Amino acid sequence: MKDQAYNLRQLINSFKENNEKLTIRNSNKGKEDARVITVTSGKGGVGKTNFTINLGIALSNLNKKVTIIDADLGLSNIDVVLGLIPKYTLANVVRGEVNILDIGIKGPSGINIISGGSGIVDLIDLSQDQINNLIKNFLLLNDISDYILIDTGAGLNNSVLSFIEAANEMIIIITPEPTSITDAYAVIKNISNNKRIKLVINRVESSKEGYDVFNKINSATKKFLNIELENLGFIFEDSTVKKSVKEQKPFLIYYPNSIASKGIDLVAYNLLNNSSHIESYSTFKKFINKLFFKL
Ligand SMILES: Nc1ncnc2c1ncn2[C@@H]1O[C@H](COP(=O)(O)OP(=O)(O)O)[C@@H](O)[C@H]1O
Ligand SMILES: [Mg+2]
Repeated sequence: MKDQAYNLRQLINSFKENNEKLTIRNSNKGKEDARVITVTSGKGGVGKTNFTINLGIALSNLNKKVTIIDADLGLSNIDVVLGLIPKYTLANVVRGEVNILDIGIKGPSGINIISGGSGIVDLIDLSQDQINNLIKNFLLLNDISDYILIDTGAGLNNSVLSFIEAANEMIIIITPEPTSITDAYAVIKNISNNKRIKLVINRVESSKEGYDVFNKINSATKKFLNIELENLGFIFEDSTVKKSVKEQKPFLIYYPNSIASKGIDLVAYNLLNNSSHIESYSTFKKFINKLFFKL
């Protein structure tokens, strides 16, 4: 384990020394490590992708540099929701064909969107060279981002588990439906301890409903798993969400005064201000260490 940590440091150092060109390109020396947050849910269709995109825009409006990694291999990918077509994915980066800075698509409000593609699945059995290559590329991403949001898709299959395991901050999206709540409980039960789990309740009809759902699941996790959840906020049921999906335009930009947008803004605010202390932030270098070296 120690050897691997040492290797990683060596790798980072040698990479920094040998790649002045890329460093200059980012010209972001001394920048803080990016905060990496996975967004997941127990079941699909609860609003993860819409949440992630619009949260990214809200953070960007607060002057944060945001990268979203689309690790959802399901149908409603970020590029579909936004009507953007990625030419390359992480799979091309893994194969060493392109640099990670060249595959990002510029999304609304300047958010950087990276498509996972089959690169996410491939993570499991990479060669050492490919791992090194991916780490170098991830470090570049760290340099250009304040926030890295990972839309992981629903459930806990192997392809996304490593991402979820590696980040110690995660947002779980749930809706007030009973199945969504029990599925989310199963996700929380299955992930290892030591994580800051934040809940966002989507599609609520009232704040009371949001609080009721939060309290229900939080008392269950406290009682049976000894895990205290953090309430990051509620997003109301709002017809502008469906409309914006149809139009492939994020509601935070096109309907900034909608009730759904207000919910997202509040979540962004909570994430920046009321959230767990900065020491517990899941930083990108910690993330890389855990992802590749299980440290
Ligand atoms: N707050 C909301 N109000 C109304 N409809 C919503 C809301 N959030 C999500 N939806 C609906 O749910 C659908 C699925 O959302 P999506 O973000 O693709 O879910 P996931 O990524 O979890 O599969 C959207 O296309 C939209 O129609
Ligand atoms: Mg999705």
